[in-house]
Amino acid sequence: MIKKFLMTPGPTQVPPQVLSAMARPIIHHRTAEYSQLFARVNDNLKYVFQTKNEVLSFASSGTGAMESAVVNLCSPGDAVLVAAGGKFGERWRDLAAAYGLACEYIEYEYGQAVDPGDIGRSLDAKPEIKAVFVTHSETSTGVVNDMQAIGAAVADSGAVLACDSISGMGSAEIKTDAWHVDVVVAGSQKALMIPPGMAFVSVSEKAWVLAEQSKSPKFYFDWLKARKGLSQPQPTTAFTPAVSLVVGLDAALGLIREEGLENLFGRHIILGRACRAAIKALGLELFSPDDDRSSSVTAVQVPEGIEDSRLRTLTRDKFGVQLAGGQGPVKGKIFRIGHCGYYNYTDILVAISALELALSELGQPIQLGVGIAAAEKVFAAGVA
Ligand SMILES: Cc1ncc(COP(=O)(O)O)c(C=O)c1O
Repeated sequence: MIKKFLMTPGPTQVPPQVLSAMARPIIHHRTAEYSQLFARVNDNLKYVFQTKNEVLSFASSGTGAMESAVVNLCSPGDAVLVAAGGKFGERWRDLAAAYGLACEYIEYEYGQAVDPGDIGRSLDAKPEIKAVFVTHSETSTGVVNDMQAIGAAVADSGAVLACDSISGMGSAEIKTDAWHVDVVVAGSQKALMIPPGMAFVSVSEKAWVLAEQSKSPKFYFDWLKARKGLSQPQPTTAFTPAVSLVVGLDAALGLIREEGLENLFGRHIILGRACRAAIKALGLELFSPDDDRSSSVTAVQVPEGIEDSRLRTLTRDKFGVQLAGGQGPVKGKIFRIGHCGYYNYTDILVAISALELALSELGQPIQLGVGIAAAEKVFAAGVA
């Protein structure tokens, strides 16, 4: 028998309380019972997003909500700015191209963070830029961008700032309103602790002005339709929602409320620290930065002489631990340990233990247990 441990940055493990909530008989979505639940979910989403703005929900993967941002903020031919250093940042550029936008693209190497100064300079040089698109937690590299500084760089310009926090929301802090982030996108299958299939987007007043003017083609992802649904006496969605996922989300957000945001982010910081300490103790090289902002995913360079796919197949098939590989230019060169969402100390120890055993079996000269010991020391020290 193999017991399975999902240690990928999405999908992530789902708490049993959420699984059992989703197994309840389905309810109809045009009822007072559903509206009450949906209203509570919306309030709790605002809490996690740290915003007073409405948070719209869609039955789609995270990319759907990213696409909604592009089509609602822009019209064909509009000038936009994308700054990216990884696979998911590139998605903003590709979406902008798909909708005929004039996209200025600031490219960083995979593993590098966005420099807020570059964004400020581009906006000064091109005041016609309407929207800036960035990634908060770049899941493909483990880099978490400094959204506070990026927000400050955009706030006084005429442009809106849209940010993909699909793997950040609920694990790496983002203060939507305080940091002037107009549009924040999140997905269900990461730190929000429910299965894939829902996406969310918060929209500021500044962004609503653009949404009301936008001429890009859209139908399902029209924010104005979603806002109308939310403004009804019994809040609802324009189209049939993913009812069971919303019921699961209600349970998951209840758990987040219970933990509180400070503890939630503190726990993720410790998970990241422990993971990085273990990797370094094993003599492996980190690919993600060695800083506390990297609390969603730890990216590690595959050691010389080890084949990434063999390593991850072994951790999965022999020890039950599913890790993620690299993407784009770092495919085969890095692997990633996800710890955003329903993860605790012991999950990290399980992942590190499987990694140690697999590396050892593949002939990597490591001392068994040193990674575990390093992680345990972090846990013993607690939040500093
Ligand atoms: C940062 C980021 N952006 C976008 C996506 C794409 O989300 P989805 O696969 O849910 O469409 C992911 C998924 O891993 C992600 O981590």
